[in-house]
Amino acid sequence: MSSNRILVLISGSGSNLQAIIDQVHLGQEPGEIVAVISNKADAYGLTRANDANIPAITVVSKGITDRSAYDQALMAEIDKHQPDLIVMAGFMRILTPAFVQRYHGKMLNIHPSLLPKYQGLNTHQRAIDAGDEEHGASVHFVTEELDGGPVILQAKVPVFSEDNAEELAARVQDQEHRIYPLAVKWFISKRLVMSDGKAVLDGHALPAQGYAHD
Ligand code: GAR
Repeated sequence: MSSNRILVLISGSGSNLQAIIDQVHLGQEPGEIVAVISNKADAYGLTRANDANIPAITVVSKGITDRSAYDQALMAEIDKHQPDLIVMAGFMRILTPAFVQRYHGKMLNIHPSLLPKYQGLNTHQRAIDAGDEEHGASVHFVTEELDGGPVILQAKVPVFSEDNAEELAARVQDQEHRIYPLAVKWFISKRLVMSDGKAVLDGHALPAQGYAHD
């Protein structure tokens, strides 16, 4: 059975989406991006999807206070496309357990920190405020624990003393665009799975901080 149907969830600019589109369109892997879904109608990532002839869909979350109702609507839309992999690329919503369970083992997220540090928001400013000398991004499987699923791959960047959050974010994003397409490629080529709560690559459970940590 093929496992190459990728669906991407976004809320904003979609620069990680673009990196994945670029990789898939290079044609060096069997993946197909079957849809991009945003919870925000004005997300620039929808334009990127349109430009790449990928169905660009909005399931608006604004005004819906019932998380469960929103997630049910989102699941109904996702399931129309029968994805094998759901890629959260800057999708800025907390998911209900029902949602996470439905796509257990086939949902990836990228988070702008070296997890388990700085789960949640404002990660770049928090790294600066803490005086960290290094910062980065993590690709992980999504589990019910927010930003807590097993890490697949991390990329590190230095933090310079004169950095502001924007400069640091740009440095981190540059690395995100390298590691996220790689993790997607591993998954759709069936090298990467989640098993017993661990990320497993080529049959080996990855360490807590993922592959190629340094
Ligand atoms: C990325 O930097 C990603 O790590 C972050 O949002 C940005 C989206 O950028 N995600 C989170 O903060 C999730 N908690 P993009 O829309 O240009 O890909």
